[in-house]
Amino acid sequence: MKNTPETPTKLAGKTAVVTGAGSGIGRAIAGALSAAGANIVIADLHHADAAAQSLRNNGAHAVGITADIASETGSLALAETAQREFGGADILVNNAAIFSSLIPKPFEEISAEEWRRVMEVNTLGPFLCCKALLPLLKQSNAARIINISSGVAFKGNPLYLHYVASKGAVLSMTRSLARELGAYGILVNGIAPGFTLSEGVQANAALVAGARGPSLAGRVLNRDMYPDDLLGAAVFFAGPDAGFITGQTLVIDGGAYFH
Ligand SMILES: NC(=O)c1ccc[n+]([C@@H]2O[C@H](COP(=O)([O-])OP(=O)(O)OC[C@H]3O[C@@H](n4cnc5c(N)ncnc54)[C@H](O)[C@@H]3O)[C@@H](O)[C@H]2O)c1
Repeated sequence: MKNTPETPTKLAGKTAVVTGAGSGIGRAIAGALSAAGANIVIADLHHADAAAQSLRNNGAHAVGITADIASETGSLALAETAQREFGGADILVNNAAIFSSLIPKPFEEISAEEWRRVMEVNTLGPFLCCKALLPLLKQSNAARIINISSGVAFKGNPLYLHYVASKGAVLSMTRSLARELGAYGILVNGIAPGFTLSEGVQANAALVAGARGPSLAGRVLNRDMYPDDLLGAAVFFAGPDAGFITGQTLVIDGGAYFH
């Protein structure tokens, strides 16, 4: 079932930068923001141009940029692209992360190198993107940052200690940034998805084998979760209806963790 939560005018004239939108949840969010009327900058290490092209095929204004969001040059390139192509940015969705490629393992088997890279992409990345986009967001009259955390930050799932720690950091960054940026009228909120069958997740058999059954069993709503399940909240946080909400993280998981 395709979820089309918004009218095409809700975000008309706005520009959204969505990281990790070459595939999966990020790509779905970019599509929903675009359907609500926003111009889209898609940033990803892979498939950024193809994802932007598919939005343009549907009549949207979208551009792709191949960039590593965990590098200063990569994050600055997002801001430059938004400025050059659309004259600024109003919405930043920090979605890119290392997740679906991870192999579950006891924490003592996680190398320092793997820990560093997960932290680098999942926490340094959003930090750098917020910094890079800040000058543009300050010029917007309806600026939003939406950070994609995870239900694991609340539940403390085992076998992904680096990932769980990184998503806990994203949750805390949402709160702290909301306090720092409120003075500029920049609202900062988060979404914490439950186990979602994105393309990347579906391609990782070990991840699906370990997480799908327990996720289904722990949910009030007894079905699998897909990227489309997150779109209503993403468009809501990006738009005018969320104009007095900041510092919050919404858990969307079919009723597994009550927050
Ligand atoms: N799928 C789930 O079950 C689930 C649950 C909770 C939270 N999340 C979060 O939702 C987000 C998306 O999840 P997904 O399942 O689509 O993930 P995914 O791993 O399938 O996709 C992540 C995207 O980010 C991109 N990316 C990774 N590193 C990057 C970098 N350094 N620079 C630019 N792009 C980079 C990847 O190329 C990919 O397109 C992530 O933040 C993830 O942690 C996912």
